[in-house]
Amino acid sequence: MKFKDQPVISMREFSREMIDHILTAAEKMEPIARGEQRSDLLSGKILAVLFFEPSTRTRMSFETAMLRLGGDVLNLGSVDASSIAKGETLADTIRVVDGYVDAIVLRHPKEGAAHLASEFSRVPILNAGDGAGHHPTQTLLDLYTIKRESQLENLKIALAGDLKYGRTVHSLCYALSLYGAQITLTSPKELRMPDEIINDITARGAKIKEVDSIEEAISDVDVLYMTRIQKERFPDPAEYRKVANKLKITTETLKSAKPELKIMHPLPRVNEIDNNVDDTPHACYFKQAFYGVPVRMALLGLVLGAIE
Ligand code: CP
Repeated sequence: MKFKDQPVISMREFSREMIDHILTAAEKMEPIARGEQRSDLLSGKILAVLFFEPSTRTRMSFETAMLRLGGDVLNLGSVDASSIAKGETLADTIRVVDGYVDAIVLRHPKEGAAHLASEFSRVPILNAGDGAGHHPTQTLLDLYTIKRESQLENLKIALAGDLKYGRTVHSLCYALSLYGAQITLTSPKELRMPDEIINDITARGAKIKEVDSIEEAISDVDVLYMTRIQKERFPDPAEYRKVANKLKITTETLKSAKPELKIMHPLPRVNEIDNNVDDTPHACYFKQAFYGVPVRMALLGLVLGAIE
């Protein structure tokens, strides 16, 4: 298995063997991620962080991962304060930044931006989200969370919310298809999972069904993966207002759930999970955000050739 110098663009490129390898490496990183052990595994390495869209978790967990492993981070900072504001293209920005660093993390509003960047970069590009496209490192931490808090084998999972624009669920579906998961989808009808993805992942072995309500979706699943309605992706704000607040989890909704149900969410949440749910044993989303650190440590270690 070769990870060194490889770009990470979409989950389509990952085999189950590759994913399992990363998740095993992430387990070994956990004590370092928690600050219980020190490491200089990536000493001398520099990671560039280029975010053309807002982020809290992805940006900060990549930065934490690099710092915990003794590496350095070079953050582009605000796009408005960079030469992008003068009209510099993404391709030119990448061709310049790749001379300063050993790997580049890129978030961009345009689908396909990470793939484009990888064609111009001499160093590996790690896709931190490209529009409504993919978010592969989120998927790796989602799988890690499922492995740690529930089970990846024979998994029954419900994906709920904005399945049209939500890139995290697109990437997650591709990965879950490798594990033969039973996937239940529920969303407002305007925000269904694109047929192209449903067809692709069915062909890859996933068992899919679509249901009309969250209550129906959660009745026999191990994991409920909630997502935010992606307001920023709607071409027409009136269309957003029609679907906003249509799906919400409360402690009342959870009455039909299995006691061991885990609720995940890539975050940020807006109001699709009531705060009262945070105090139930089902809530898993803040742990999930932490697991981004060991997973991204493992990925950086592999891509930068510090571990195999
Ligand atoms: N899950 C996720 O991508 O969060 P951020 O937008 O805060 O990075």
